[in-house]
Amino acid sequence: MANVLITYYSQTGNTEQMAELVAEGAREVEDVQVDLRPVENVTPDDLLDYDAIIIGSPVYYGTMAAEIKSLIDESVVHHGKLDGKVGGAFASSGGPGG
Ligand SMILES: Cc1cc2nc3c(=O)[nH]c(=O)nc-3n(C[C@H](O)[C@H](O)[C@H](O)COP(=O)(O)O)c2cc1C
Repeated sequence: MANVLITYYSQTGNTEQMAELVAEGAREVEDVQVDLRPVENVTPDDLLDYDAIIIGSPVYYGTMAAEIKSLIDESVVHHGKLDGKVGGAFASSGGPGG
């Protein structure tokens, strides 16, 4: 069975809603275990446990939220060990240009 992590940051609920829909879709796939976890509850060590990592962020001034960037930056402790995993990303923004 493949393990999928969907992690996200959300202040006002938009990205959280998207994350729930991404999880709903992923759960339709056979033999897939999906964990939906706010980024506050995910450590760099946790990333090692998953075959696929999907990350969601609101757009803050043209880039990702600091909380998401921190997880990615802190994952440097496992540099190279995350190779080969499937990755995905999604974002919510206030405007189409976001
Ligand atoms: C500090 C801040 C910066 C933002 N910067 C942008 C931006 O550059 N472009 C954009 O389209 N929306 C921007 N937004 C709007 C958010 O991306 C949007 O409302 C998003 O859906 C919020 O996600 P959340 O409900 O998961 O917190 C910004 C919002 C905040 C609070």
